[in-house]
Amino acid sequence: MLRFGVIGCGYISHVHVNDIVNNLHGAKVTAIYDINKSAAEQMIDEFDLGIEPSKSIDELINSSEVDSVLVFSKNDTHTEPILKALAIDKPVFTEKPLATTTEEAKQIVDAEVKKGKRMIQVGYMRRYDPYYQELKQTIDNGEIGTPLMGYCRHFAPAPTTNDFQTSDVINDSFVHEISVVSWLFNDDYKSVQVQYARPNSTNTAAGLKEPQVATLKLKNGAIVNTYLDINSHYGYEVKCQVIGETGIAELPDMPSTRVHKDEKIYNSVPLESGGRFEKAFQLEFQDFIDHVSTGKEPTGPSAWTGYTVTFTANKALESLKNGQIVDLEFGQKPDLYK
Ligand SMILES: NC(=O)c1ccc[n+]([C@@H]2O[C@H](COP(=O)([O-])OP(=O)(O)OC[C@H]3O[C@@H](n4cnc5c(N)ncnc54)[C@H](O)[C@@H]3O)[C@@H](O)[C@H]2O)c1
Repeated sequence: MLRFGVIGCGYISHVHVNDIVNNLHGAKVTAIYDINKSAAEQMIDEFDLGIEPSKSIDELINSSEVDSVLVFSKNDTHTEPILKALAIDKPVFTEKPLATTTEEAKQIVDAEVKKGKRMIQVGYMRRYDPYYQELKQTIDNGEIGTPLMGYCRHFAPAPTTNDFQTSDVINDSFVHEISVVSWLFNDDYKSVQVQYARPNSTNTAAGLKEPQVATLKLKNGAIVNTYLDINSHYGYEVKCQVIGETGIAELPDMPSTRVHKDEKIYNSVPLESGGRFEKAFQLEFQDFIDHVSTGKEPTGPSAWTGYTVTFTANKALESLKNGQIVDLEFGQKPDLYK
């Protein structure tokens, strides 16, 4: 039984810990730390874990009760626990992003390369989503010919808080498209460009400027546009369409009950992202458990993927300043990730 130490006890931690306790097999939670002790205590109570909160990140990582470390704290706090766990050979699953700065992300890649083995998996879970997997398979089977261009939509009904920032559109939403487009197109990125569309006058968050249109260009010339809207009003929706030389492949509409009522026939759309990727969250975690518990290296999204996504997201933020195209050059991909 793989023993996890969990850092951070907020929204996504509840999703993963609930899965570990109730839906997955081969692992258990043996240590918990949150900077806010009561969040850790609540989680221990909720899942009846029968443990005391760890007093610090160091105590949790160094505990003899912990084989592997799960990093679910906020975006800019991932680097320290990842590097500390790596230093004592404990595999890490970290939620996205790997790090918020390109420098820190590269520092993590360098540390893993120095170890000479893959020990980190990053929570870019869309690659585990059965619908994305089918889309990828369709492209890889050559069913639509060489992919030429594409279109994604990442919509949320409203900002989650009045504090939602312009940069969050890139760092929390667009990163997911960055993580899958190069995977779908089997190529690296050449450039990124992000422009503001006409402002949505119903937006309530003072620090948020949107909608945004992001363009990723791949080295082979393919171009993919992503429409990012945090004020869709109608619901949470993710779309992806890939146009090839001989056909088109796209994600299906998500199944939901069709209602016949009041002279209309309609399907409902969820307001939140959780349900849409429920299966992907479970599959990514079971895969991590299956590899690490048998002494194998994790094969999910790697630290290198995490680094390239952070690199691209930071260049996307640079582009937002004036809408210019920013070239992307990630440097040499280490052999460990080939
Ligand atoms: N893969 C996905 O689709 C997905 C979805 C949601 C969140 N996330 C990622 O998961 C992470 C957590 O997001 P969330 O929505 O759960 O946030 P949240 O605000 O609900 O929870 C974060 C928790 O981390 C704790 N924390 C903050 N700093 C800490 C530190 N230095 N050490 C220990 N604990 C600390 C907070 O007290 C809080 O309990 C973020 O990096 C986010 O980007 C990923």
